[in-house]
Amino acid sequence: MTNIRPLKIAGIGYCVPKTVITNDDLKKLYDTSDEWIYTRTGIKERRVVSGNETAIDIGLTAAKNAIEKSGFKPDDIDCIIGAASAPPQLYPTLACTLQDKLGIGGNVPAFDLTAACTGLIYALQVARGFIGLGIYKTILIVASDNNSKITDWTDRGTSILFGDGAGAMVVTESEDGVDDILTLNISADGSIGQLIQTNFPSQCCPLVEQAQEVGNGKIIMNGKEVYKFAVTTVPKYVEDCIEKADMKAEDIDYLIPHQANQRIIEAIQKRLNYSDDKVISNIKYYGNTSAASIPIALVEGVEQGKIKLGSTAILCGFGAGMTWGAAVVRLRKGIC
Ligand code: COA
Repeated sequence: MTNIRPLKIAGIGYCVPKTVITNDDLKKLYDTSDEWIYTRTGIKERRVVSGNETAIDIGLTAAKNAIEKSGFKPDDIDCIIGAASAPPQLYPTLACTLQDKLGIGGNVPAFDLTAACTGLIYALQVARGFIGLGIYKTILIVASDNNSKITDWTDRGTSILFGDGAGAMVVTESEDGVDDILTLNISADGSIGQLIQTNFPSQCCPLVEQAQEVGNGKIIMNGKEVYKFAVTTVPKYVEDCIEKADMKAEDIDYLIPHQANQRIIEAIQKRLNYSDDKVISNIKYYGNTSAASIPIALVEGVEQGKIKLGSTAILCGFGAGMTWGAAVVRLRKGIC
């Protein structure tokens, strides 16, 4: 790409709800065990919103944290992208609602894009285009999902996996000419979209024939097939992205993958031949928080000293659609 303005990742933040649901708690809902869940997924507990709390509240806190770390003021933001697969309402969108709550004012665009658990990588690609072409200068990306509200809590094959959480990023035109996106690719295959679905309850006009099947708004998933897809397509894709960008996996400091299943994380790790200290995993404590999982793992990794800033990382995501994507990014000091 020529004459593309470079992008700087200026600030990253996250927020998770306080309420913890352990694997043992789930035994109150159906026949399961901590041993079954942990050995197959690596998950011990997850966070869920409660009462009136929604993805808007945790998204707002994550956004404030990212803005504060970036050194910008809300008024400096000139575009907001929400990456939400399970927002509390379809519209007003997460992005528009947060625009209001952050006091950003009415003169900037705000919209959500839906790429499920790949949402953050998709949003980063869109932001890269906007910044690269000089359309917008400083963009807030917020990935926030209250998965617990669309989980079928009678289905022990899916409800063990998901949790609620939010992550946010402020990206801006890089003033020093250094681009923090070393490579970024996104992809999708709608022909296998039925593997993970959430179908809204719906109706036809009462004057016409009604549909035979009406959704209930809950996640329906073919876990086995999603697992097979994730351990075959994603590791190869990540490796190809690195190769296509003329980089070597060993030269990149960390792998920060979408946190869907510890065994999927290990499949990507194996493909890249990475030692454990290069791989960031916190699925044990949060389950799958959709598009928020990468920023949560990133910031927590820094807080816990597992990630040293002034480094590079591969971010990779995959999820409903099916969608997937990978980016190699520069993590500057002070971003979280
Ligand atoms: N506790 C105990 N038993 C359970 C259970 C639970 N929570 N969930 C399912 N089972 C049972 C099933 O009923 C089945 O029993 P049966 O053989 O008597 O019929 C058995 O365990 C195997 O079920 P299956 O669904 O085949 O398990 P699995 O080995 O495929 O593991 C997942 C299920 C969901 C853990 C696994 O498929 C997975 O992680 N897939 C990826 C999903 C994912 O990451 N989605 C998000 C992508 S962004």
